[in-house]
Amino acid sequence: MKAKGYSKEKGAGPQALGGYLSAQRKPGPLWRFGLLSVCVVFFAGCRLDMHIQPKYKPDEPSTFFEDGRSDRPEVNGVVARGHLRVDQQFYTGRVNGVVVNTFPFPITREVLDRGRERFNIYCSPCHDYTGSGHGMIVQRGFPAPPSYHIDRLRQAPVGHFFEVITDGYGAMFSYASRISPKDRWAIVAYIRALQLSQHATLNDVPAQERAELTEEAK
Ligand code: HEC
Repeated sequence: MKAKGYSKEKGAGPQALGGYLSAQRKPGPLWRFGLLSVCVVFFAGCRLDMHIQPKYKPDEPSTFFEDGRSDRPEVNGVVARGHLRVDQQFYTGRVNGVVVNTFPFPITREVLDRGRERFNIYCSPCHDYTGSGHGMIVQRGFPAPPSYHIDRLRQAPVGHFFEVITDGYGAMFSYASRISPKDRWAIVAYIRALQLSQHATLNDVPAQERAELTEEAK
């Protein structure tokens, strides 16, 4: 039986199709190429060697090692590249056990800006933006820290501040895991700037602006 619609088209009947096929019976180069690429694609999909490979995922047990773990512990004394802490002052705030009163690198405007940013994030919640110790957490009941502007802390060496941030101090916890040593020094530099800001005299003001200030005060 002829399919309806199919037979209506002139020359498109089964015979015409058969004639077309017989005329093309010998597969041409294009046809071979097509078949080859289908095979290549098909068999490539069946390769498993790189897809299912013997490997351990993190924390997977292993029967190979005595302790039954696939993760290997660090070999004692190994230091990752760039992590050798030879600079005592930079990493501890002390040199030969004595708390330092100098910075381990030059303090520039950039360092102070960084210090202010980090201080406002990490310290101001308790110490407030000026360092007087009335931050929001304190207003909500946390023990009040001393003001940075008391004589004892104004005279404390910079290494002391570095140690307080690194190790914590009394009720204040350590920030070692959150603030890198370089940023700790930047914060200390900014604390020094805060201290100066509360104890500046007219002599600290540049001469040309001094006149302006005295004028205003009159
Ligand atoms: C959660 C509140 C809190 C935060 C945040 C905090 N501190 Fe403190 N800090 C305290 C308290 C409370 C004390 C007083 C601790 C004591 O005497 O027991 C203190 C004390 C100090 C002191 C004085 C130490 C001394 O010699 O008396 C310094 C300096 C200090 N903090 C620096 C910092 C710096 C820098 C940061 C930010 C990196 C910081 N703190 C963040 C609560 C905080």
